[in-house]
Amino acid sequence: MTTKIPPLQRHSILPTTASLADHERLAQQQLDANAWAYFSGGAADEITLRANRSAWDGITLQPRVLRPLAGGHTRTTLLGRTLAHPILLAPIAFQRMAHPDGELATAYAAAALGAGMVLSTQSSTALEAVAAALLSDAGRGPLWFQLYLQHDRGFTRELVQRAEAAGYEALVLTVDAPTSGARDRERRTGFRLPPGIAAVNLASLVAPPLIELRPGQSALFDDLLQQAPTWDDVIWLQSITRLPVLLKGVLHPQDALQAVALQVAGLIVSNHGGRTLDTAPATAYALPRIADAVQGALPLLVDGGIRRGTDVLKAMALGASAVLLGRPAIYGLAHAGAAGVAHVLRLLRDELEIAMALTGCSALAQATPALLDSPRQQIFTPLRAG
Ligand SMILES: Cc1cc2nc3c(=O)[nH]c(=O)nc-3n(C[C@H](O)[C@H](O)[C@H](O)COP(=O)(O)O)c2cc1C
Repeated sequence: MTTKIPPLQRHSILPTTASLADHERLAQQQLDANAWAYFSGGAADEITLRANRSAWDGITLQPRVLRPLAGGHTRTTLLGRTLAHPILLAPIAFQRMAHPDGELATAYAAAALGAGMVLSTQSSTALEAVAAALLSDAGRGPLWFQLYLQHDRGFTRELVQRAEAAGYEALVLTVDAPTSGARDRERRTGFRLPPGIAAVNLASLVAPPLIELRPGQSALFDDLLQQAPTWDDVIWLQSITRLPVLLKGVLHPQDALQAVALQVAGLIVSNHGGRTLDTAPATAYALPRIADAVQGALPLLVDGGIRRGTDVLKAMALGASAVLLGRPAIYGLAHAGAAGVAHVLRLLRDELEIAMALTGCSALAQATPALLDSPRQQIFTPLRAG
């Protein structure tokens, strides 16, 4: 079956759009209150959402001078593959709510900029169409599929088989969202998916039979969470796929060690961009603790609040092999389609090069804790400040 890919909308980007924050402002002007609440919001009081940002801001880089920089580069290796730079796009659901071109535009931009892309289970474009758009580009980065285990494990298996057949190169099992967080901002705006936007990969999933709750039973624990994933499901998933399985949403060193014991292919240190458990730790706080625990046994990726090239460099210095970018890509998409996503990626990569040059690093391997000023003390402080 050939997948037809529609032509993309054309946009131009003003030269005054100089940072990811500029893209955010332009997106807010473009999106209605419904979509803005969904894409920009976090859980509850949004303490973790803010802590993600302030934790990166609170780490000081210690520049070194007069080191040789000629021939420097941002290349790195991940799961046995060389990448032009360590930036991937995080899975974000329902991207056609940001722009009619949705995930297709994101895929073209990722491929053009050599960035990896992780497609959400809840993509508003069929997973096959996204793979077809991205895989033909020789300069592309990795293409991974983010998996939410569904209550029907037979359906989940078929979804995995579809992702394998379409050419996805790894599965990212999200483990930090057995249920949604308390999303007050969405409730206050009365958030609804607009007509025509849906989780199309799940179109044929049949809803689970209704459970009659007895008085005193919980709709969450006695109904919705009956099939919530456990460590056994990680083993099951590994047994039904030939693809590497990464876990996304790990924050505790003990969970990281359990993942190592199960030989998962990698971990994404993430708090879902502050959308699940509010007051969970900032990822800049969790990353070095997990890096200490796993001692290089598997690659670590990190996301949450990464908005500057200096944040990417700090993440690498704290033990990450790569970072994922969430909302900023959607902000670029919202106001300028594929060109907007590509511009966001370009800005971040350029900023990373500048940060490397100004700290005396000609390769990311030189990004070690020595680049940071008293890293532990600094990572604790912003959290206490909330
Ligand atoms: C609107 C929105 C939708 C998201 N959808 C998913 C999803 O479908 N699956 C998933 O694993 N994570 C999802 N995430 C979390 C992101 O993958 C990522 O962890 C987070 O956005 C990173 O933080 P940042 O937005 O501050 O960069 C979503 C995040 C946002 C903001």
